[in-house]
Amino acid sequence: MSGKQAKLSIDQQTIDLPVYSGTLGPDVIDVKDVLAKGYFTFDPGFMATASCESKITYIDGDQGILLHRGYPIEQLATQSTYEEVCYLLLNGELPSPVQMQDFRDRIKSHTMVHEQLQFFYRGFRRDAHPMAVMCGVVGALSAFYHDSLDIRNPEHRQVSAIRLIAKMPTIAAMCYKYSEGQPFMYPRNDLDYSANFLRMMFGNPCEDYEVNPVLARAMDRIFILHADHEQNASTSTVRMAGSTEANPFACIAAGIAALWGPSHGGANEAVLRMLGEIGSVDKVDDFVRRVKDKNDGTKLMGFGHRVYKNFDPRAKVMKQTCDEVLNALGIQDPQLELAMKLEDIALKDDYFVSRKLYPNVDFYSGIILKAIGIPMSLFTVIFALGRTPGWIAHWQEMISNPYKIARPRQLYTGSLQRNYVPANQR
Ligand code: SDX
Repeated sequence: MSGKQAKLSIDQQTIDLPVYSGTLGPDVIDVKDVLAKGYFTFDPGFMATASCESKITYIDGDQGILLHRGYPIEQLATQSTYEEVCYLLLNGELPSPVQMQDFRDRIKSHTMVHEQLQFFYRGFRRDAHPMAVMCGVVGALSAFYHDSLDIRNPEHRQVSAIRLIAKMPTIAAMCYKYSEGQPFMYPRNDLDYSANFLRMMFGNPCEDYEVNPVLARAMDRIFILHADHEQNASTSTVRMAGSTEANPFACIAAGIAALWGPSHGGANEAVLRMLGEIGSVDKVDDFVRRVKDKNDGTKLMGFGHRVYKNFDPRAKVMKQTCDEVLNALGIQDPQLELAMKLEDIALKDDYFVSRKLYPNVDFYSGIILKAIGIPMSLFTVIFALGRTPGWIAHWQEMISNPYKIARPRQLYTGSLQRNYVPANQR
């Protein structure tokens, strides 16, 4: 509570509304009292709505700042590991070495999925989009873990969190192997998290697979850059599903479904398709012209953000990682040159500058994923894998504090009440 008050004057009455201050960011006006006066607030897309109180992630869109439990993303991406960021998001503090080892050991003891789960994949065509498979399989996890679905039991919540973080790489790699017609690979507990994922993706039972440490480090950094992002659409979906007391696996499956859209997590795949359609640097000017033509309906995918009106700090780290990985692998990817040309033009063009459209996390991620060998259809699966600890942290934060079922209202502009007309009188 800030002690401040907002006054809303309407229809000759004044409504006093409390104002709360957080530790960072704008104050918020508590509007729930307008209901007692017969009003709803109206904010389609929640442009100006704080849906909850949270201590997990802070974004300053104007300054391009992203903090996870107070730690800047640039420092976490270059100095931490994904498993350590998972621990931080879930527990609020960086772990001691003993706590980190215990967390890592707990994850390793849950990396396998139930042997029956593999048969869920067979219900899909081999060319099914991997996000469709991941939605189905993650939702199906709740059919296997009846021992940990009591959301009021902190231990159940904790074991569900560990199971999801541990099994997402296995499930994601199985999505890829199934689409390739190759046998599933079992996780290996002697490998670190991201190296284990790459081996399950690209190894096969016929020979040993040596994970390239450059790629493992890049993969780990990509997971860190996707780990959480405040109340984005998929995280808000997880919170909404969780507010009905649905089990955690169902809530995460709902988040995966919401992430799939090209306006959200599906943008990384859309960026690579866009670069493919543009084709070459000499076609960039014409593409930018089409983007600026409102009638054309073309968007510069990987650009723009609801919150960032400056550079997305993750995009900066992603671009550095892109350079490192391509140099380390000796890859000259013309699509990187194309992306950099697009960025260069857009950042000087008033259409983008006036709308504060900058590269977001998705603009460069696909180029790195492609260099690692991950097919475009799996890019959003990688995003979902990376975002899992964020989704779970928000779900846990909501469930372990007082909450109410999320149930927005509306501005109704439909028909007034009228009587039914039998078909023979219409
Ligand atoms: C993610 O919320 C999160 O935190 C998400 C995320 C996370 O980590 O969870 O950061 C991940 O989803 C990143 C965003 C990935 N999506 C894309 O890259 C798709 C392309 N971007 C746009 O669809 C758009 O920028 C959004 C959806 C990201 C944001 O849309 P907003 O905030 O609703 O803004 P808007 O659509 O109202 O755009 C404002 C103006 C409009 O022009 P005018 O009507 O004012 O003339 O900017 C234009 C838009 O047409 N615009 C674009 C554009 N993005 C916005 N024009 C061309 N290309 C674009 N990419």
